[in-house]
Amino acid sequence: MTTIVPASTSQALAAALADEGVGSLTVPTYDRFADGETLAAVPEFEDSEAIIVASTATNDAHIELLQLQDAVREAGATDITTVIPYLGYARQDKAFKRGQPISVRATARAISTGTDRVFLVEPHEPAVADFFTVPTEPIDAAAGLAEPLSDLQDPLFVAPDEGAIELATTTRDAYGEGAVDYFEKDRDYETGEIELTPSDAPVDGRDVVVVDDIIATGGTMSGAIEVLNSRGAGDVYAVCVHPVLAEAARTKLAAAGVERVIGTDSLERAVSDVSVAPAIAARLGK
Ligand code: R5P
Repeated sequence: MTTIVPASTSQALAAALADEGVGSLTVPTYDRFADGETLAAVPEFEDSEAIIVASTATNDAHIELLQLQDAVREAGATDITTVIPYLGYARQDKAFKRGQPISVRATARAISTGTDRVFLVEPHEPAVADFFTVPTEPIDAAAGLAEPLSDLQDPLFVAPDEGAIELATTTRDAYGEGAVDYFEKDRDYETGEIELTPSDAPVDGRDVVVVDDIIATGGTMSGAIEVLNSRGAGDVYAVCVHPVLAEAARTKLAAAGVERVIGTDSLERAVSDVSVAPAIAARLGK
């Protein structure tokens, strides 16, 4: 048998993986000392195979993953798989100025030291897998994004930038009907301001599903929703794999007039209505 080891960030998803038959759950402890340091630990377990499930959305979550990997090896596991439903720092995959790190490379190297293989759910760029020094593969999870959608009027699936066209197309294909379109996006990296240029596709009265891999600050998604609503769209849905929803992102989406926000349980948020567990289980061969 295989033991599933959930990080504190991925408890519901780990339970869903157990329901999918991936293995049996162990219950770690997650402690914090007065100086802010964390201590994650696992009880003794019999199995030699461990699957750690850990989204790394925060610096603490990164440290917790490294601790769980070390603890699991210490507890006797000889085969460790690390599943990362949301890989933090994945968008820091280049040094934009001299002196800057490639942050995701630094974290990938550290994670690689404690595992035999890694699976990344919809990483921002599949090429980040190359930064790991153990076998690392992406898992496609976009097909489930259409599950909560129904009764859309003349639907249009929109990618807020060219990088999300494939996700929008996969979501359309899973829904079963509708057109796909995309915006041109320019981001000023000094000011953080985003400029979105829509295509000429008519949206008047149509329900529009905006699909992106991540909603972080909500700037990209709320900008797209505002443009679509100003052009007379019907209901506008914001759909993403990773609902980071930092700071006031959820409020920005509401203020822009979103009908509904849909994300997955790669991050456990109020909008995590779609589970990536079936896609992970299929990939793990369970
Ligand atoms: C960018 O390439 C990504 O696909 C997302 O559009 C972006 O990371 C979302 O960030 P934010 O919510 O901060 O605009």
